[in-house]
Amino acid sequence: MHKELTPVQRKIALENLLEQWRMIRDPSKEALRAVPLFAGLDDQELESIYAIARKRTYPKGSFILLEGDPGDAFYLILAGEVKVVTQGADGREFILAVQRAGDFFGEMSLFDGQPRSASVVTNEDATFLILYKQDFLDQVKHSPAILFKFLITLCQRFRESDKKLRDLALLDVPHRVCKALVTLGERVGMASDEGDLIIAKRPTHQDVANGIGSSRETVTRVFNDLEKQGYISLLGRTVVIRKALLDRLGRL
Ligand code: CMP
Repeated sequence: MHKELTPVQRKIALENLLEQWRMIRDPSKEALRAVPLFAGLDDQELESIYAIARKRTYPKGSFILLEGDPGDAFYLILAGEVKVVTQGADGREFILAVQRAGDFFGEMSLFDGQPRSASVVTNEDATFLILYKQDFLDQVKHSPAILFKFLITLCQRFRESDKKLRDLALLDVPHRVCKALVTLGERVGMASDEGDLIIAKRPTHQDVANGIGSSRETVTRVFNDLEKQGYISLLGRTVVIRKALLDRLGRL
């Protein structure tokens, strides 16, 4: 059943739309400056990146990189969302990470010369700033500020991967579903006055399953149980994570 959006949900939707519009309309040097990776650069450095970068938009469901391919370019996300995935021999997908505007991917193969470590697929229409291999390496070599930011981001990704590994090894599936939801909520959600956390556009049950090493059917069962127990509310694509669940997990 379709329900009216609450004022908070309307605000989230509007802010997302405005952000996307701003980035697509104006991939200018100023927009680049807003990207954390480039934040510490001076005008000249920004200018030279802007001059050699290409901008491209791909529709939802496009494979931007394929695991095992040689690496020839670096991608910065200007708008939209991608998932970084790896596939088992049986074709089952495991989502290593989800990246959004301001995030980047494709740097690993350019740094170490190895094939792509994972595939990257657009979850929605997405716009990228693309730097080809030699231009990318030239920029990085000449900018300690960028290099340092890469190091920090790689450390953060390592930490995230450690957490994921720990959860896979030590938590049961319902717990993993809750943690995946709350982690996403902390990243993209909005807190309500009641202390709930609202995610305007929740991932599909299949994507949740692929991110925690489970099946779609199991995730659907866990979502239904959580809703019956009053820990979450589902309103179309929106999920409200109730304060009771956040308290139980000791988050926020
Ligand atoms: P590369 O190996 O060139 O191509 C695939 C890209 O996916 C990789 O560079 C990284 O940018 C990105 N990637 C791989 N693993 C992870 C991860 N665990 N978290 C976030 N991004 C990743």
